[in-house]
Amino acid sequence: MPADVLLEIEDLRTHFLLEDGDVRAVDGVDLRVRKGETLAIVGESGCGKSVMARSILRLVDPPGRIMGGRITLHRGDGPVELVGANRKLLRQVRWRDIAMVFQEPMASLSLVHTIGSQIVEAVRLHENAGKAEARRRAIDLLDRVGIPMPQRRVDAYPFELSGGMRQRAMIAMALSCRPGLLIADEPTTALDVTTQAQILDLLADLQEDLGMAIMLITHDLGVAAQVADSMAVMYLGRVVEYGPAEQVLSAPRHPYTQALLRSMPRLGRAARTRLTAIKGMVPPPYARPGGCAFHPRCDSVLAGRCETVTPRRVPVDEREVSCLLYDEQEVNA
Ligand SMILES: Nc1ncnc2c1ncn2[C@@H]1O[C@H](COP(=O)(O)OP(=O)(O)O)[C@@H](O)[C@H]1O
Ligand SMILES: [Mg+2]
Repeated sequence: MPADVLLEIEDLRTHFLLEDGDVRAVDGVDLRVRKGETLAIVGESGCGKSVMARSILRLVDPPGRIMGGRITLHRGDGPVELVGANRKLLRQVRWRDIAMVFQEPMASLSLVHTIGSQIVEAVRLHENAGKAEARRRAIDLLDRVGIPMPQRRVDAYPFELSGGMRQRAMIAMALSCRPGLLIADEPTTALDVTTQAQILDLLADLQEDLGMAIMLITHDLGVAAQVADSMAVMYLGRVVEYGPAEQVLSAPRHPYTQALLRSMPRLGRAARTRLTAIKGMVPPPYARPGGCAFHPRCDSVLAGRCETVTPRRVPVDEREVSCLLYDEQEVNA
């Protein structure tokens, strides 16, 4: 493993145990996040992006359960394993090592506390800061994320702010303990295009200042193309293509990545177009097709093979692609 890996996910499986059967929302994800990089996770809605991200901080509620796999965080004081971590370690890791922001800021902001008191609490929980010092930090952070008049806004309640300002406040809170990794799950999806661009710029600035890594989850390839160093394409709970963003975008190898990009022909000009029609629909995860789960929708399907053989990860350039087309043993079988 290269020395610059911050977070390593191996064969992660998170299922929802329902009466009618298991929903395999995450079904064997392998990924790495390097220090300081932006990794974009892309894929159509329902492919398991959010459940995967929430699994990292163990924020999946029952009947969701992590069934297996390993999540290793490489901290300054050595590696820690998060799947088996106790509550004490998890509390320490949340905010200080890994912070998370969501599409809907109200999911992480309390309605009944001021923005400032919530940041103060986060700072004091993790660092030996006095009240006055923590409040100064809160005002600094609000200023840093571009909230005007931070001395006043620090005492505002979330409902007193606009959607874009609330998103900024949530980012300020997430950064209060200077995490090494920020997980942002569709952070700009609910915002208008102008505010979206501002928030993406803000994240890029903060990343440079703080040297933090960002895992950016988005269904929007245009957003990913704008900011990502690396890219992981997810389909039905698995990563099907993973590697340097520029390679994945300029010469996609997995038929699913190719279809995603075709659905968005002019990257750059149509930078914020939503992903649209790919042949067929994402099947529900309890009806996961056998073999390669993408085969019913795939234009390049190998008859008699893709329906039955689960593709391995094979290296292609600097990428990993899970597709029989690139697996010589299979193609020659
Ligand atoms: N609480 C839940 N109970 C049952 N199924 C769930 C629950 N949460 C998510 N899922 C299922 O897990 C799959 C992955 O969901 P999600 O990670 O939210 O997808 P994405 O973020 O890629 O849009 C979906 O099929 C979804 O229906
Ligand atoms: Mg999601």
